[in-house]
Amino acid sequence: MSSVLILGRQTNIALAELESLYGAENFKLINSNCVLTDIGNIDLPRLGGSIKIAKVIDEYNNTSWLDIEKILHKNIGNFLNLPIEGKLNLGISLYGLNVNLNKLQNLTIQLKKSIKKYGQSVRLLPSSSLQLNSAQVIHNKLLSEKGAEILIIQSPNSVIIAKTIDEQDINSYSQRDYNRPKRDSKVGMLPPKLAQILINLANPKNNSTVLDPFCGTGVILQEALLDKFNAYGTDLEARMIDYSQVNMDWLAEKYTIQNNLKLETGDATNFIWQPFDNVVAETYLGQAYSIYPDSLRLKDNIRNCDVILSKFLKNIHNQVPIGGKLSLALPAWYDRDTKKFLTLPLIDHFPELGYNRLSFSIVNSDDLFYHREGQIVARQLILLTRNK
Ligand SMILES: C[S@@+](CC[C@H](N)C(=O)[O-])C[C@H]1O[C@@H](n2cnc3c(N)ncnc32)[C@H](O)[C@@H]1O
Repeated sequence: MSSVLILGRQTNIALAELESLYGAENFKLINSNCVLTDIGNIDLPRLGGSIKIAKVIDEYNNTSWLDIEKILHKNIGNFLNLPIEGKLNLGISLYGLNVNLNKLQNLTIQLKKSIKKYGQSVRLLPSSSLQLNSAQVIHNKLLSEKGAEILIIQSPNSVIIAKTIDEQDINSYSQRDYNRPKRDSKVGMLPPKLAQILINLANPKNNSTVLDPFCGTGVILQEALLDKFNAYGTDLEARMIDYSQVNMDWLAEKYTIQNNLKLETGDATNFIWQPFDNVVAETYLGQAYSIYPDSLRLKDNIRNCDVILSKFLKNIHNQVPIGGKLSLALPAWYDRDTKKFLTLPLIDHFPELGYNRLSFSIVNSDDLFYHREGQIVARQLILLTRNK
């Protein structure tokens, strides 16, 4: 049975993650943020870029909204195996359909009547937007036996009806992000989801060791340990290594961690590491800006980052095992005039530095920027292997 994955805000990055883990041939983008797949065992909590997974119940070709309404009224009993014992909590979400909220609200009201015909007591979530968010799905227990979220999804030639089977665990993300004892806004706040994506782009083998040579407070180390990899973190600042240690001790209290952790202070431009398998890092990002810098200062900052990160890549080159991957979040700067990103000059010199840049077939590798509205410093995601 096929499934539909709903992608998060940064769809390009979510697609690159899926391609790295499962192969591009297994996914078909059916509208701007939904992909269809036949892979049966997708582990949603492991994915940073996808927010919801739903099992396809049925598919209808060339269908109008009127047809969809009729189909739902007629088949809702089958779709949900009604009646069930007790009260059913039900929510409806639409993806990719050109339908306004009024129509969805109307459908919801009418559907209540159709469901009651089965002798089923039901609570329908009022539709305040076309899609229910993770908090609504979880807090209203729509994933439990007495709940359901039905998705109506537009694909190029058909409409798919699907039932949500898992939703991103926002409570766990929030705990992993905000409850860690040591956080430092100066080194940046890497969201755990992005750390997961970076790890997944490298797709490490079971039990291998993930090295973060710019580990800071240890978000990547944390996510690597949760994914059952060994984690090895180094950072220029001893204070950061202390922070990472405190955070990993906290992690081991909250979660079952069975893999190894190693932490050392070291300058990534000249450090000799113990053996590792893959490099996953949010590198040095240069100066943090709250207001847009003048162009001379920005140039200086970009040059400085470029020098440090080129030295790092040269230093680690011979230490990366053949076949090992480097999944890096490098700094990029949003240019509000051109609305494009300024990237590091070294991006054009990977072959001279001894690396091949890996591309994706599902997305353009030059479009992988993690950026929020209003941010000046973005992160450019780059995947490399050693070329010699
Ligand atoms: C953007 S932060 C990474 C934050 C990290 N992802 C976290 O979870 O907190 C970059 C880190 O690189 C470190 N750093 C800067 N220059 C370095 C160098 N030459 N070698 C190693 N670490 C360096 C900084 O101390 C900082 O902790």
